[in-house]
Amino acid sequence: MTKLKIKKQVWKIGIPLLLAIFVGCYLGLTMYKEFKYKQTFEYKLIEHGYTLNEAQELLNFYKEDKKIAYILEIPKNTFILEIIKEKYYIHHNLDRYLSYKEEHNNIENKDIVAIVNVNRDYDLYENIKNCDLEKGNILNVNKYYTLPEDYAPENLKNIGLQYAYAGNKITEEANDAYVSMWNAASEEELKLIVNSSYRTHESQTEVYNNIKAANGQKAADKVAARPGHSEHQTGLAIDVFEIKNQATSTFKDSPAYTWLKENAYKFGFIERYPENKEYLTGYSFESWHWRYVGEKAAKIIQEENITFDEYYAYYIENQA
Ligand code: DAL
Ligand code: ZN
Repeated sequence: MTKLKIKKQVWKIGIPLLLAIFVGCYLGLTMYKEFKYKQTFEYKLIEHGYTLNEAQELLNFYKEDKKIAYILEIPKNTFILEIIKEKYYIHHNLDRYLSYKEEHNNIENKDIVAIVNVNRDYDLYENIKNCDLEKGNILNVNKYYTLPEDYAPENLKNIGLQYAYAGNKITEEANDAYVSMWNAASEEELKLIVNSSYRTHESQTEVYNNIKAANGQKAADKVAARPGHSEHQTGLAIDVFEIKNQATSTFKDSPAYTWLKENAYKFGFIERYPENKEYLTGYSFESWHWRYVGEKAAKIIQEENITFDEYYAYYIENQA
């Protein structure tokens, strides 16, 4: 064979061979890329029915694989894309938000999150858990958390007679904070007075049973806690009035109440059962019931205008 012929043969075989290798590599790479893409959550979410934009939004929000895997386990629901935008969204409540939305389509998303977070999607006194007694000043007691019958706080102190009617007790720390608050109010010519504070399980039983006997259980449940469910058993709650305004019906209109609303948080106290929040707290508005939670929690609750139940669900339980 002449050199020229050999050259021609090389071109004839070599070029197609190179082309075949090139095309093969290209196809292989494309298939590999597709195979890899199919393993991604983005692909799986699209397969599950979400658009590319929705899938990307979900991926941006849920940083953890196990949370996205959960979204893939439940039926496609674009309401998820709305509810995750709510500030107090808690992932482990997602199923309950979805169920609540289905049953209450006209309720705002913000309220759905709040209601479910504080367990108000359950009937009152249903799914009761034990209080976390390790939580100190932010111990939460409500219609879904109960205290042991024999629970009594440590360091109970008598509140001085200048500040309360005889026999009132709260924890030492709450008492120091109350005295500071009392002094600050006094500088504004407001004389605060506590008429109820720490109650034993037994004394709460008496309070509750008396109201129940007079007005029936439904009415009693709006204004008094059942035994084991009262903040008064924690030694962190006070029923506080002003000497001049001591009626539960009118205290809300007094200068002392206005002052407390603006200033109590600086001393670590919060309004526990605010007006228009019955759907969250389970209690009618109690302008006189103030709860010591410490300054850090009180500041957040005041600034964000949330109930203690919402604070506890989002900032304490959810972060634990
Ligand atoms: N009045 C409040 C809710 C209590 O009984 O603890
Ligand atoms: Zn009270």
